Parts: sequence; structure tokens; C-alpha cells
Amino acid sequence: MTAIDEIKSRIDIVDLVSETVQLRRAGKNYTGFCPFHPNTRTPSFVVFPETGTWRCFGACNEGGDIFRFVMKKEGWDFPQALQFLAEKAGVKLEAITPQKEEEREEYERLRALLEEAVTFYRFHLLETPTGKPALNYLFQRGLSRATIEAFGLGYAPEGWDHALKYFTAKQYSIEDLRQAGLLSESEEGRVFDRFRHRIMIPIRDVNGRMTGFGARILNPQDLPKFLNSPQTPLFDKGKLLYGLDRARKAIRQMDQAVIVEGYLDVIALHQAGFENAVSPMGTALTEDQLRLLKRFTRRIVLALDPDTAGQKATLRGLEVARQAMDQSTEVVFDARGLLRHEARLQADLRVATLPEGKDPDDLVLSDPEAWKNLIASARPVVIHVMETLAAGQNLDDPKVKSQIAAQVLPLIEDVASPIEREDYRQRLARLLRVDERAFAGLSMTRTERASTRRRAEARPSASQPPTMAPVPPMRALEEQILRLLLHFLDLLPDLDRFLQQNRLAPFRIMDFEQAEHQQLARLILDALNQDEYEVDEYIRQFVPEPLQEKLNEYLKPLGEKEISSQEAFEQLVRTLLRLRELHVRETMDQIRFLAAEGQADGELQSGLLESMNQSTEILRYIHQAQRQPMILP
Ligand code: UTP
Ligand code: MN
Repeated sequence: MTAIDEIKSRIDIVDLVSETVQLRRAGKNYTGFCPFHPNTRTPSFVVFPETGTWRCFGACNEGGDIFRFVMKKEGWDFPQALQFLAEKAGVKLEAITPQKEEEREEYERLRALLEEAVTFYRFHLLETPTGKPALNYLFQRGLSRATIEAFGLGYAPEGWDHALKYFTAKQYSIEDLRQAGLLSESEEGRVFDRFRHRIMIPIRDVNGRMTGFGARILNPQDLPKFLNSPQTPLFDKGKLLYGLDRARKAIRQMDQAVIVEGYLDVIALHQAGFENAVSPMGTALTEDQLRLLKRFTRRIVLALDPDTAGQKATLRGLEVARQAMDQSTEVVFDARGLLRHEARLQADLRVATLPEGKDPDDLVLSDPEAWKNLIASARPVVIHVMETLAAGQNLDDPKVKSQIAAQVLPLIEDVASPIEREDYRQRLARLLRVDERAFAGLSMTRTERASTRRRAEARPSASQPPTMAPVPPMRALEEQILRLLLHFLDLLPDLDRFLQQNRLAPFRIMDFEQAEHQQLARLILDALNQDEYEVDEYIRQFVPEPLQEKLNEYLKPLGEKEISSQEAFEQLVRTLLRLRELHVRETMDQIRFLAAEGQADGELQSGLLESMNQSTEILRYIHQAQRQPMILP
């Protein structure tokens, strides 16, 4: 049970409401004067203990559960109401809340410090004589002043304590500076500026928030060539892609991302108008980085330096790329290398090999057309791997042939399209000058192994359907709708179309009585109304903390068997219609009850009559809709 459910089971709604409203028993329910609008003559406020909900049939015409009641009464948001009711119920919310809060504040402070550091280094680059050589170096590399400013480049002056002095004078503690990665420490424990006489490159996260710096030497004798911020709470190199904050829009628009090796390559490419370039900052691509990228596109071109290290990095990069693209398969990282894995390729990954001795920045600044062509001519991964493996090998040697085939064939099998697969097989056969039929034995065994393994994995999860505690019927319906929607997010427009065709209101927050369900419905609608993120990504990122647990629960598999969109759609429509039917019926019961009480005054009486007519009409539409075919276009 989630904390939310626990609280609901412990707090009696009649008790809670009775603290503010004088309730009178009426059958199995309770009535009273609505606390949310001025009224003294007619009790239009009803509490339903069975469902744990309340409703005002008067001016408010609104209802909900205990959370909603407290939210409305106190003017609080959901987390505040949750905090309050958790305390009241004696339910311990995850202790993370205060801790996380503290952590968040800490991160905010460090980010602010790093932001000031950007300003500090930029000042030294642009406004001081000591920064002149650095600025000239950047100009000489072909960067314009506008680019230098847009990327927030700076200069860390020579000396041991410029930043140290500056920031301690600004009341930052040594600990803060250390946490932000701006200091180094000697063996004797003396602290000093980490970055000295270097060009400073601010590294921001996907949302543009400061995380750390990359710092390039000016003096060719200095080492290392690039010094990055150390691993800090904010700076985790493997989880960041340099330039993504500025590239994400173009990546989405062009539906393509280009990965280059260096910071300066990214900057030069952006300056030249190729704004879809990002860099993994020197290391092989990590899975986290690819996941990040996958929010914006699945089409990725790796444009890496042509030296051997570049080639290796390309291959390492590909390995990880294939894994990150496929969430459904657990990938085994095999030491024997690159091509031995089980994942199926689900992205369009291509490799562009740069001309010998040219970095992307050289190329693009001297010849933008050449860059365009290079990217356009990027080859599919399989071809690239094939040719890389074959390069410089003696292809007359049968041992070499079979080694290459053994490495490339598994990769080919992972390609989803049968046409592409066949094409690659033929190319490989041509490259190795063998008959394609010679591959048959090699590839069969792998496919068999793979599918056996997949089947074996599927079994245990299927035998353990998610357990569900018994919940009141309306709550269960609400839950079912959200589960279905969260698994089939693209069904919402079809659902709305169906409802509209049947003269019913579109899917809305007020279809739900449970406050946490209202919040989740809001989240889903918000997610579908934005285009910055993938819808599911948005939901995962922006789910309010207290709802995380619920969301995780609802995201669990729907049942033993996978269901098709069509099946899901029909279930979704039926469940929503059923829920609305119950709501309308409940409303009609209450109206009848209030009217029969004979206590309603003229105004409420006419209001009730109108509600009754509306309800009757809606019920008719619902019944009509229930008889319609529920078929996806
Ligand atoms: P390169 O040595 O290819 O540098 O490293 P570059 O980006 O082409 O730089 P320029 O053109 O010589 O100015 C590629 C990337 O590898 C990372 C950096 O992210 C760099 O941009 N790197 C390299 C490091 O992190 N540390 C190093 O010591 C070297
Ligand atoms: Mn370079």
C-alpha cells in the first residue's frame, strides 16, 4: 500500500469533515452546510463514507476525497495536504522529503556559485589584459565574439588563489568551493585554485543549469590538455552531454543528433549553424548519455576523429548506443568485445569518419558544405563495423574471414528490418568474398539461443501478476483508467474523439474523485500538451514527489499477457463510461434525496431540477456510447 492509500484507510472522512462542518446523518450518507460557499439555509454538502468522498451540490458543484477537502479548505497544494494528513494519520512519509529538500537547497547554492564562477572567468577573458592571449587564441581558432559569449567561455588566470580569494571574499566557504569543484588540495591539505591559466568552458545540464567546467590549456607544455571539474554532486561526466542544452531544440527539429569528440568541435559547429552537435567530453558514450539523447531523437550520427583512439571510441560508443536504445532487453557486456550482445537495435545509428587529420571544427569552419556532406554520407553501424574490422586485414585468409563473419553476423541479426538484414548479409558476403549461404549455420545458433533466453526470462514475471488490494469500485475504476492511459499514452486523442462523437465531455481531471488521481490526470494532460519532452519522459521527470510511488505502481505491467492498443482502447472507453455512469447515478440519487428531504429552498430546488435534467441527458449519451463500436481508427 502506498502512503496515500494508508492515510485514506486511516482517516475517516466523516470525522475529518466534522471538524469543520456540522454533519447530519441521512441514510448511509451525511449532509451539512457547505464550508466552501456562503450558505445557511440549505444543506447542499454531502459526505459519502462508503467511497470516502464529499460533494457540494450547490454553488460549488465540486467534490473529492479527504485530500481535496483539505486542499480546498486550507488553500494548499497536494504535497502540503499530504504532509498534514500523514501527520494526522500517523503515517510516516518517506524520510527523504526533508533530506531531499536540504539536498536541493545545497545544489541550488552550488549552482549559484558556479554561475558566479562563469561570470568571474568570463570577466578575466574579456575584460583583463591577462586574458588577452586566451581571447586571441579563441579568435585564432575561428570563434567569433558572439559565440564566445553565447557559450560563456572564460579564462582562469595564472596563479594559485584568484578564485579562492575572490569567492571567499564573497562569503563562500572553502567547503562550498570544494563541493563546486573549483579547488584542488595539496597533500599537506592546502587548498588552491584548480583551474589556472586555462580557457574555461562552462558545462551545463540538459536544462541549462551549471554543473562544472572543462578547462583547456593555453601553454602546449601544460598537462593535461583538458582538465575537467572533478566528480561533484552536480558534475557527473557520464551523465552529461556537452552542448545538449543548446542543441536539444535543433536535435528535435532536425530529428538527428551528431556526436563529436570535443568541446571546441561542438562550439564551432554551432557557430557554423549545425546546432545539433553534442559531445560526450572525451570518454566513450555512456548509456546515461544516450538515454538523455533519446528523449530528442533516435537518429544519431557519431562523427569522431579518425585516429585509432577515435575508431576505438566509435566502437565502444556503438556498443553502448545499442544497449541504451533498447530498454526491453537486459544486455550482457561481453569482454570478447563489440559485436557480441543480445540487444536488438532500435535506433538509426550512423557513423561518419572524418578525413585524416581533421577535427570537426577545422572542417566546418573551413568548409561548411563538406561537413554537411560528411554527415549525409554517414554509414549505418553495421557497414561501418564491417569495414573497420576488414581494414588492413588479409581477406584471403579463411581464418580472418570467419572471425569477421562471427563478429558481424550477430550485429546483423539484431537489425529489425528483414530487408536491411538481407542487404547487410549480402554486403558482408561480398566483402569477404564468400557465398552468403556459408553464414547460415553461424547465424541460426545465435537466433535460437537468443529466443530461448527471451522465453526463459518471460516466464517468472508472467507467473506473478501484480497484486491488487481490494478498493472501492469507483476508486478501482479510476485506477484502471490511469493504468491503461499510462501504458498507452497515445490513446488519449482517440478517447477524446470517441467521447466527442458521443456528445460526451473529453477526458478531464474531474473524472476523478481521488486527489492523487486528479494529480496524475493533470500530469498526463500536461505531458500531452507540451513538446519539449517525450510524453513518458515528461511524466517521469515532472511527477510530483509524493506521487512517485503511485506512478511506479501504475506503471507496472498490466497483466500476464500483453494487450494490443485496440484491446486497451476498448477497456479504456468501457471503464471511463462505467465510471461516469456511476458518478451520474450517484449525483441523481443525491439530488432525489435532497429534493425529497423537502428542506431545499427555491433556489436550490430549481438548481437541483436543472442538474437532474442534465444528469438524465448525460446518462442517455453514456448508454448510447456503450453500444457503439469502440474501434481505433
Ligand atoms: P582532443 O584532444 O581531440 O581535443 O580531445 P579537441 O577537443 O580536439 O581540442 P582542440 O581542438 O585540440 O582544442 C577531445 C575531447 O576529449 C576530452 C575533451 O572533452 C576534449 O574536447 N579530453 C581530452 C579530456 O577530457 N581530457 C584530455 O586531457 C583530453
Ligand atoms: Mn580539435
